[in-house]
Amino acid sequence: MKRKLISMVLCMAMITAAFTGCTSSDSGSAPASGSSGEASASEPANNDKKDIPILGAGIYSASDNFNSYIGKAISNASNGVFQTNIEDGQNDQSTQNNQVDTMIAKGASAIALSVVDVTAAPTLIEKCKSAGNIPIIFFNKEILDKQLLASYDKVYQVTSTGGDYGANIQGEEIIKYWKAHPEMDKNKDGKLQLVNLIGDPGHTATKPRSDAVKKTIEDAGIKVDLLAEDTGMWVTATAKDKMDAFVSKFGDQIECIVGANDAMALGALSSVEAAGFNKEGAKSKQYIPIFGIDALPEILSKIESGEIAGSVLQDSKTQGECIVKMASNLVNGKDVLDGISYELEDGSKALRIPYKAITLENLDEAKAAYGN
Ligand code: GAL
Ligand code: CA
Repeated sequence: MKRKLISMVLCMAMITAAFTGCTSSDSGSAPASGSSGEASASEPANNDKKDIPILGAGIYSASDNFNSYIGKAISNASNGVFQTNIEDGQNDQSTQNNQVDTMIAKGASAIALSVVDVTAAPTLIEKCKSAGNIPIIFFNKEILDKQLLASYDKVYQVTSTGGDYGANIQGEEIIKYWKAHPEMDKNKDGKLQLVNLIGDPGHTATKPRSDAVKKTIEDAGIKVDLLAEDTGMWVTATAKDKMDAFVSKFGDQIECIVGANDAMALGALSSVEAAGFNKEGAKSKQYIPIFGIDALPEILSKIESGEIAGSVLQDSKTQGECIVKMASNLVNGKDVLDGISYELEDGSKALRIPYKAITLENLDEAKAAYGN
């Protein structure tokens, strides 16, 4: 009976694996992070199980909503596989370096990190090498130095599709919206008056996302009239401050707001709502369609109400599952891709999880991806 139950559970796990591409020992409970998106995993998931190896894991900042969700996904996927704690690097590289030293001192079998500063990657790799060739998996913030990646056989990356980092899909959503809603062209000049809130200028995805969204729109024959473009540093409050100035300067001339991530799209929303826009969703007297990236749980209700027009899913759950599976494969001397249906990109040693358009029509897919 017991054996039957175990094989049923195994079978279910295999079905889940086939679906997501990465095995997970966990059924995928909802990330407990609230609207603040803070990582709260200060308790080791399995601290009573001494025989379970330790995964030293950290995100660059718990104030980054999306990173907090990957942290939760790593915690969930680690259940029964690794003991883990998601450390908050507090956007400070020396803090994160100390955290890695402590992880190693506590006997971590593998390390998984979104780095504060990508230029710290050589130091971090060196720490892992000299501690007895501990595997290290970088996630989210991409390491571009291919020579560095080639210099260590136990370094890999998990991130999302490179090139445009989801912004082509965001651009396509805007084109679709423009075609379906002629009223979007408020001044009827055939051009799209756009405010573009970009990410941290030092981040790998920032310029590609900013360029790709505008190029996709223009390639479809819609001229972009860029009213304003500035960084919101991926952060809601920063984006809100910037948007406050843009909305008071341009007001109802703005025909579209692009946030390079959802956190900034939400900052823009609170700014425009304070100025009397979008409160009643798309039916609002004064309305500015806003688009984001990540499809965070906290933006889905805003898409449902029409306050936000669309987002692009960056699948944190699958990324977390793949990080844990790869780390566990390396710790157990297996092929790094054992049980994983995604490929590694040559050179970057990156496993890339694809993005997906999220609008009112397929909100359920985004909800499922965050385990909600
Ligand atoms: C991006 C993500 C942003 C932010 C950034 C930080 O991939 O879309 O929301 O988390 O990474 O590295
Ligand atoms: Ca126009």
